[in-house]
Amino acid sequence: MKSLEVLIFLGPPGSGKGTQAEILTEKLNLNHLSVGDLLRENIKKKTALGKLAESYVSSGELVPDELIIDLMDSYFTNIKNQRETSGIILDGFPRTINQAIALENKIKQLDVNIKAVLNLDISDQKILIRLAGRGRDDDKPELIKNRLEVYRNQTEPLLEFYNDRSLLDSIDGDQSEEDVSNSIINVLKAEVA
Ligand code: AP5
Ligand code: MG
Repeated sequence: MKSLEVLIFLGPPGSGKGTQAEILTEKLNLNHLSVGDLLRENIKKKTALGKLAESYVSSGELVPDELIIDLMDSYFTNIKNQRETSGIILDGFPRTINQAIALENKIKQLDVNIKAVLNLDISDQKILIRLAGRGRDDDKPELIKNRLEVYRNQTEPLLEFYNDRSLLDSIDGDQSEEDVSNSIINVLKAEVA
């Protein structure tokens, strides 16, 4: 089997991780893991995971690392058996240093490389405007404020973590969807060169 390559999309709530993951999954024939979408699906179906995760997601807090790391673990086990997949976009994972370390350990066991970590950079002010216009259950102003704070405290340290590993590239997230996609594709081309 070909080795798998992983792209990690980092960035605050509303920075466009999901939008770009969908565009690039299609363009580059990749597999997309959105932990947020998976959690919302589980909450809707009232699965055991959904019941455990619900109070965290609805308050804008992070779901405990153990649950998310188990989720990532089963995703990778499953995806390694799908022969046609050559690449994965991780959207919303990792979000803590513990999760990033668990990912490093997992990929050491499998034939998987992190190709790039793409940070979608955008101001809080723009985020508030974007999310106000979307209206997901966790898009209420108070919750957005908390999600941003959680991002700053728990996820932003990953920028340094991946910069130290020479994997980090920052993209201006405040461009049109198409320009953001093109910027990402240019970064990926440069990685190959
Ligand atoms: P998650 O679903 O990942 O939410 P999030 O990180 O807050 O990010 P969003 O999905 O809101 O934004 P996005 O960056 O995907 O932007 P989007 O493309 O949608 O996580 C939800 C919750 O799950 C967390 O709060 C936590 O509780 C839990 N969770 C998830 N992962 C976890 C983990 N690893 N550990 C623990 N807990 C976890 O775009 C936003 C809007 O902007 C859209 O309306 C879109 O149309 C618009 N837009 C996008 N791009 C552009 C553009 N270029 N120009 C104009 N508008 C644009
Ligand atoms: Mg998203």
